[in-house]
Amino acid sequence: MDISQEEIQAHLDKHIFRLISRAADEMKLECYLIGGYVRDFFLYRPSNDIDVVAIGKGIELAESVAGKLGRNTSLTVFKNFGTAQIKHKEYEIEFVGARKESYRNDSRKPIVEDGSMEDDQKRRDFTINAMAFCLNGGRFGELLDPFNGLQDLEDLIIRTPLNPDITFSDDPLRMMRAVRFASQLGFDIYPDTFDAIKRNRERINIVSMERVADELNKIILSPKPSVGFILLEKTGLLDIIFPEFTALKGAETKDGVGHKDNFYHTLIVLDNIAKQTDDLWLRWAAILHDIAKPVTKRWDPKLGWTFHNHNFIGEKMIPRIFQRMKLPQNEKMKFVQKIVSLHMRPMQLVEDEVTDSAVRRLLYDSGNDIDDLMTLCEADITSKNQEKVKRFMNNFRIVRRKLLEIEEKDRVRNFQPPVDGNEIMEVFGLSQGREVGLLKAAIKEAILDGIIPNEHDAAYLYMLEKAKEMNLKPLKID
Ligand code: CTP
Repeated sequence: MDISQEEIQAHLDKHIFRLISRAADEMKLECYLIGGYVRDFFLYRPSNDIDVVAIGKGIELAESVAGKLGRNTSLTVFKNFGTAQIKHKEYEIEFVGARKESYRNDSRKPIVEDGSMEDDQKRRDFTINAMAFCLNGGRFGELLDPFNGLQDLEDLIIRTPLNPDITFSDDPLRMMRAVRFASQLGFDIYPDTFDAIKRNRERINIVSMERVADELNKIILSPKPSVGFILLEKTGLLDIIFPEFTALKGAETKDGVGHKDNFYHTLIVLDNIAKQTDDLWLRWAAILHDIAKPVTKRWDPKLGWTFHNHNFIGEKMIPRIFQRMKLPQNEKMKFVQKIVSLHMRPMQLVEDEVTDSAVRRLLYDSGNDIDDLMTLCEADITSKNQEKVKRFMNNFRIVRRKLLEIEEKDRVRNFQPPVDGNEIMEVFGLSQGREVGLLKAAIKEAILDGIIPNEHDAAYLYMLEKAKEMNLKPLKID
């Protein structure tokens, strides 16, 4: 890595680091910048998350730094963990005393003792995260890299500083972190580290699902998420944390008719969509769009393999998956459900005929999520036949154009019926009930079918007509 000492010095020559340096020197404490910030400095990735280790009193150092920073500074002390956090402007700074720690077999809670810098570094997860810059005056910017993290950064390798069985049994979440860094940074997991993940995979069960899901979400947000998912699958972690996904694996053949392997298909869809959007929930919709294929798969001698209703069954499976994975059970989940349930519609529309009324119905059912739905549908085209891909993409372009045209004309995207239930009740002197519902539905259908325009007067006249068929008389005619 050809970064000179001058460049390091220049980078660290910021008010915040000089101030920590001064506080540590005054307290005669050895003090280091460590972890992700140092790694990201060498990767030219800007970061505002700063981890500081002091040999000895981490909390006292944080208190002194907070005092010196003055206004716009918040300090939170976690006495039980021996850590403190400062928030100041764009920075989040964690302070900790160097420590030796070990974890009991049945829990993530560490037994912590004071330790040397070397003790602290070797108890960290990966060599690339164990590098430290000294912040003390005389040694400002000196790199401490006892496990050759810099070399591993250059070689694009994720490797534990210690025997990986020890590192992972200290904190099994690190197995997920290894995969996450590999996926985020495009690194390889070193073979003995990889083998240890395979061996220790069951220990992921002692980690809270919230923390596992947090890492999984970071994998999903990485530039090419399939890298992470394939590693999760190969190490056996995926089967433990997300068995519905590994159930997609495999391609069966009967009477010479095969179906695609939906696991790899889904990963291609996910990589495709990752090029178009950073929206975590749209990426989740890609992951889950075919999740019900294994449970809906049937062999039909006439039709071959079918996955009837897999979109609707998939929609229904999502709440249980989200609940188990401690993902939010709110409008984000509803969005994922909606996209999954509608994901076949644009393709059906292309296969049948792009009629105005089909386009109107799609707009009505998808509302403001229509663009996201189209993004997923385009990502879902994974055929190896380039001709076919070209044809589908072209058809989707037609659908998109039609969607714009119809929306411009008919405004059905956030459709509110131009004659509502109250007006119907008033005109016919009805109270809420079946007849009002029927009239409302008839108006909606007529607008979506293009029989009448989406306007009040046309809808009103149509309502009178329909009411006549139902032997309903208006109280008075305007
Ligand atoms: N660390 C560790 N084991 C963990 C979590 C963190 O050893 N399970 C150490 C690593 O040295 C890591 C540092 O604590 O670099 C800070 O952790 P964190 O802020 O969670 O991650 P970063 O490495 O900073 O990466 P990112 O900000 O991308 O999460």
